[in-house]
Parts: sequence; C-alpha cells; structure tokens
Amino acid sequence: MIVTDSPKVNGNGIAPNMSVAASPAVLRPRRLRLNPTLRRMVRETTLTPADFILPLFVRYGRVQRAPISSMPGQFQLTVDQLAAEACEIADLGIPAVILFGIPAEKDAAGSDNYNPDGIVPQAIRAIKDAAPELIVISDMCFCEYTDHGHCGLINRPGEAHYHAHLPEGYLLNDPTRDLLARASAVHAQAGADIIAPSGMVDGMVAAIRAGLDGEGFEHVSIMSYAVKSASGFYGPFREAAESPPAFGDRSQYQMDPANRREALKEAALDVAEGADLLIVKPALPYLDILAALRERHRLPLAAYQVSGEYAMLHAAAANGWIDLRRCALESLISIKRAGADMILTYFAKDAARWVLEG
Ligand code: PBG
Repeated sequence: MIVTDSPKVNGNGIAPNMSVAASPAVLRPRRLRLNPTLRRMVRETTLTPADFILPLFVRYGRVQRAPISSMPGQFQLTVDQLAAEACEIADLGIPAVILFGIPAEKDAAGSDNYNPDGIVPQAIRAIKDAAPELIVISDMCFCEYTDHGHCGLINRPGEAHYHAHLPEGYLLNDPTRDLLARASAVHAQAGADIIAPSGMVDGMVAAIRAGLDGEGFEHVSIMSYAVKSASGFYGPFREAAESPPAFGDRSQYQMDPANRREALKEAALDVAEGADLLIVKPALPYLDILAALRERHRLPLAAYQVSGEYAMLHAAAANGWIDLRRCALESLISIKRAGADMILTYFAKDAARWVLEG
C-alpha cells in the first residue's frame, strides 16, 4: 500500500491522494493510451476554431498584400483586401480578428488613431460590411501611430503637453489615458465590438469604460492586455507594425518579465476597473501567470501567442528541425491547458484548418 498523503479518510473510507491499489506494478496509466479512440475519450483539452483570434495588419494604399518577412504567411493588407479576408476567416469558424493599423503619417500625438477616417476605423467598416458576424477587436495603443514609436504622449520640451516637473522621455500617463478613451469611442463608432487597450497605461480600462459609456457605447466590451511584459518576443511585430520605439524601450510602462505578484496586481486592477476580458501576453513563456489568473478570476482569459513565438516555430520548421503543424498545435493546446479560453495567434487560419482536418 502506498500512502502519499496523511491517512485522514473521507466518507467512503479512501484517503485523498492515497493510492487504493495494492502495488505499483499493477498501476497502468498506459491502458488509456492504447489506441487513438481511447486517447480521444480521455483527452482533457481540445482545440476548436472558436478558440482563435487572428491579428490583422492594415495599411494605407490599394490592392496590396505586403508580406512580413519575419512572419511567414502574414501580410500587411490594404483596406480593399479585407472583405475577402474577413469572409475566409469567418468561413473557417474563427470568431474574431484583432486589428493593428499602420497609418500613412505618424505624429507626436498619434492622431490617426482617433481620426474617424483613420486606418483602423476604415478597416473596421470594411470588415463589418463584408462579414457582420465576425467580431472585430481593436488593439488600442498609440505605438503604431506616434512618430517616436511609444505607446502614448511623451514628455518632450517644446510640446504642448510638456510638464517640466516630470522626467523627459516619460510617457505621460493621464493625458495618454484621455486620448485612449477618445480613440476608443471613435473605433466603437466605426463598429468595433471590443476595445483591447495594450499600452499598460495606469487606469486605461476605467478611462476607456467612461469614454465609451459617455458616448453611448455601453455595449462595447473591453479586453484588457492586463499582463503585458516588456518582451523581446515582440521583435517581428515591430517590423510588421512599423512601430519600434525611436529611443529607449517600453520598460517604463510594460511589465518586468520577472514579476509574478505584480502581474496579479495588474490583473486585479483591470478587473476592478471594469475589464470584460483579460489578456496575458506573451503566451508560452508566461503560462504560470495564465494559470495563476485562471485560479483567481472568473472573467474569460485570453493569451497572446506573439510574433516572436510564431517566428521561432516557423524558423525552426524551415530548417527542418521541428514539425510546424505538430509544434504549433502543441503550443496552442498548452496555452489552453494552462487556462486560456481564447488565443490570439497568427496560426489562427492554419490551426483552424488543422483541427478541422483532425
Ligand atoms: C502594442 C502591441 C504590441 C504587440 C501587440 N500590441 C507591440 C509592443 O508592445 O511592442 C505585439 C504583438 C506581437 O508581437 O505579436 N500596440
């Protein structure tokens, strides 16, 4: 008899965690792995196309699908390409896309983000016209729109919002928050179903909620990038979105990858501010954070398998070192097993096809 826990017994006389079998020799978990049907019966986690959200990069111009070299199979699309793309995505059973805009002109305040005819509002309208049932999530951040590449207004001498008592180069929190609220209402007006603030600006969720409600968009959800780390895995995205910071890095607002307690604090704040869904980003290196949030919160949880995670799998597969389909699906199932209800992934279309093929 093996006793792995204290011998306290429950109602049926079996101690919790106590083995009831007589000897290790007859414990044969392999019985349930004997054939594919048995394995399918006992499988605890499965993937379906409904689990995936596809990020799309939208740019100005006409009739272009500009390939992103570090992200094989991903493109910057012009707005005219979106109708066909949206229909293909919806036909695969993928419920949602998240949009990243690359504006024609960048400026200090990232004004394209709150221009009603900016790139993302145009894209939202094009997608909603073509596939009204497809959920459109708008990534709400300024880094693609600012000339300095940071996620909001930067404290620089000579600019209207300059504060002499704050450090130079500091991301101005509260003015950025106000602009996020303004841009969110613009995207909601264009038809966005969900706003996904990704700038790690303090109080962004509460400000966006108030901004949306104030303009009559109480029905638009907020999917907050609650735990977003200052990660090297965003490398390929910055090429794709043409948004590398012109100076410094994002560590004054994105989280230190080393911090778990702080991640829990960030998530709790976003819940308190009224977030409807939470995102953990990146995904695979942060499964512990995802699992911890799953235990603590009841909101739906998303994980973002980011550009670097996608690029690594592709690069290894292109060298013949791993099998792309197998490793991509293994990564996705691991993310779901750790607690994600949904996964933002560049593999969404491939993975939807793979899981439908079985
Ligand atoms: C910010 C944003 C980034 C990503 C999603 N939203 C870039 C960053 O914070 O630098 C990264 C996504 C990826 O790497 O796939 N708007």
